[in-house]
Amino acid sequence: MERRPAQTHRPRGGSDIDTDTAELQNADLEEGPELREFYEQVTRSDLSPLWTQTSNVLTFHPRSKAVPHLWRWEALRALAERAGELVPVGRGGERRALALANPGLGGAPYATPTIWAAIQWLGGGETAPEHRHSQHAFRFVVEGEGVWTVVNGDPVAMRRGDFLLTPGWHFHGHHNDTDAPMAWIDGLDVPLSDYIDVGFFEYGSERVTDEASPATSRAERLWAYPGLRPLTQLEPQVSSPLAAYRWEHTDRALRQQLSLEDEGFPSTIEPGHAGIRYTNPTTGGDVLPTLRAELHRLRAGTTTTRRHEVGSSVWQVFDGSGTFVLGDERHQVGRGDLVVVPSWVAWSIEADSPLDCFRFSDAPVIERLGFARTHVVGS
Ligand SMILES: [Fe+2]
Repeated sequence: MERRPAQTHRPRGGSDIDTDTAELQNADLEEGPELREFYEQVTRSDLSPLWTQTSNVLTFHPRSKAVPHLWRWEALRALAERAGELVPVGRGGERRALALANPGLGGAPYATPTIWAAIQWLGGGETAPEHRHSQHAFRFVVEGEGVWTVVNGDPVAMRRGDFLLTPGWHFHGHHNDTDAPMAWIDGLDVPLSDYIDVGFFEYGSERVTDEASPATSRAERLWAYPGLRPLTQLEPQVSSPLAAYRWEHTDRALRQQLSLEDEGFPSTIEPGHAGIRYTNPTTGGDVLPTLRAELHRLRAGTTTTRRHEVGSSVWQVFDGSGTFVLGDERHQVGRGDLVVVPSWVAWSIEADSPLDCFRFSDAPVIERLGFARTHVVGS
């Protein structure tokens, strides 16, 4: 057997960090018959010598197989609509969802190595049956309304700008209470769960267990008051019990950050760049143990600080237009467009107009495992 040369990984999408120096060198061993025989024995024993693999195993910085990529909302929406004409929703398939398949991940239905993201389509009057799984999920609505997602029997209205939670092992189904179809995005920790073998799944009711269409869910009636916590619920919960984060609150928070900035008070991330994180009211931490979600608002003409971050993110433009600069690539984006930023790929955003962007990431996992690191370009 020929000794394989150490495989070198080239960063995709470019990087501001000098990668030419980031190739670990292996010992330049001369390969005689004894060494060849040794490598054959090692392979037959289901072993692998580190010294031929060093540059794969220990890189100077993260080199994701995932690539920066853009999916246009209009294209996604058109395909989801076509799926609505051709593919029924029901038991077995469970959901009419089209997952973002990162071109760097070999055809796997994963947006990044840790994140699943999909557009889901539910036609007028349709029901997606209930089920539950270990994987944590959320939904974000960029347009439309009329669907209720029923989480552990609690019907939760879905409207433009709302962020909705389905924590792991909560039964959930969806029903469309109107004649018009509706689309939204789902985010889950499916790739991470797959990699670490933690998935369980169970079918629930064929119909949603409560077909009512209340404006306000029971979870919101109990939890949706700023800084107020019910005295019956003082234990920390691993996932947020607040099923829906409404756009009116998100919008008001962002608007006030920019107003405070105008008045000279510290409030924004950087000039012209407001942001909020959706949080778990029982801990103040992230809404789900594996996923972080945020909404960023940029004034027209703002450019964000350029940075590298450990961990991967998916962004969706909620409103406005601008440019995502990912490594060496520039992606012009508009409403609904989705962009993936793999680990350690430099990113920045330029706002052509007032720009609102929803972001979700694997940051809670990265932070809890002690891997978090950020490099601000130019610092
Ligand atoms: Fe599900």
